Amino acid sequence: MYKITVLPGDGIGPEVTEQALKVIQKLAKTFHLVFEIEEAIVGGCSIDKFGMPLTAETLQKAMKADAVFLGAVGGPKWDHVETSKRPEKALLALRKSLEVYANIRPAKMFPGLINKSTLKPEVVKDVDFVIFRELVGGIYFGEPRGISVLPNGEEQGINTEVYSTHEVERIARRAFDFARRRRRKVTSVDKANVLESSQLWRRVVTKVHAQYPDVHLDHRYVDDCAMQLIKNPKQFDVIVTTNLFGDILSDESAMVTGSIGMLASASIGDKHALYEPVHGSAPDIAGQDLANPLAAILSVAMMMEYSFNLHELAQTIEKAVSAVITEGYRTPDLYEEGTTKVGCVKMGDLVAERIRA
Ligand code: NAD
Ligand code: IPM
Ligand code: MN
Repeated sequence: MYKITVLPGDGIGPEVTEQALKVIQKLAKTFHLVFEIEEAIVGGCSIDKFGMPLTAETLQKAMKADAVFLGAVGGPKWDHVETSKRPEKALLALRKSLEVYANIRPAKMFPGLINKSTLKPEVVKDVDFVIFRELVGGIYFGEPRGISVLPNGEEQGINTEVYSTHEVERIARRAFDFARRRRRKVTSVDKANVLESSQLWRRVVTKVHAQYPDVHLDHRYVDDCAMQLIKNPKQFDVIVTTNLFGDILSDESAMVTGSIGMLASASIGDKHALYEPVHGSAPDIAGQDLANPLAAILSVAMMMEYSFNLHELAQTIEKAVSAVITEGYRTPDLYEEGTTKVGCVKMGDLVAERIRA
């Protein structure tokens, strides 16, 4: 029996989560497994109900689960809430409490979606890389932080990029281990020409690499990497980088592979794991059955693989998603002439129907 805590969140979060749950239920039925699902409230809807984005009860439900699934949090309704109480704070607190330091974000081109990238087909054909984003450190959590008033009355905002050795070591090891199961190439991304924290990052990654002589390592500055991702994304296999750089480069990758609605992620630590599509709550399309649920569904595939070691189930989900795309079904973000436009619910149905033993 596998215990999953499900946090639908805000905006399109509940819509895509519903489709992910549909797929989990179909897996349970098809493979005769028991997934015990417990739902909990998080983000803006938790602010509305309890006055805070993450309650002790929700955190406890997440801590005791075998795996946690999160839809998305946030939205314009809560954009003016004080920083410490924003919906996004709940997600950051969850990641920190679960200590899920390795955020794995694959970017793979699905045949059939090649025209949805804004880049030329020959540039994006067969793209297949994975970003290992450090998730519980760096400028997202560094102290000092805050906004203060200077003696002259002017305001000053401060955030601090901090990394200590062990934080870099553990994400680097994860990235090198992962590269061994792929094309054995790691690109570490930093800003070591300017930032001391990046100089330490580069030094520690290089030291960890000594234990992986069979894996090729190169270093790139983040500005160059952003350009290289657009110029020739096929050069990348595994990218390992800091929290902030990984956040930005992963959204860039969304347009390399066609849509942010396709990007899944797994956030892994030594004890816990959290599965979350890369996209946000998409307030502009929420509540209209327009959201692409495939990022959420592919995040379930990552859960089957990484948390439950159910490799066959992960593959079944990926195959079902591929099949639906090959058959020409598209949510609006993926639509082009000659394909069949479907909504979020229908897309979930189509994938679930194609889950077979
Ligand atoms: P977003 O990812 O929500 O949306 C960016 C654009 O992509 C929008 O045009 C949206 O319609 C589109 N999009 C996103 N997901 C889609 C999907 N599944 N199918 C089709 N189109 C999709 O980013 P944003 O607009 O910068 O942020 C909106 C809110 O979400 C903010 O409050 C932000 O803080 C929050 N956010 C939350 C998470 C999370 O919970 N993991 C991640 C990113 C942003
Ligand atoms: C993401 C999101 C989050 C992040 C926000 C919502 C806190 O953008 O998961 O990519 O910056 O990590
Ligand atoms: Mn992001």
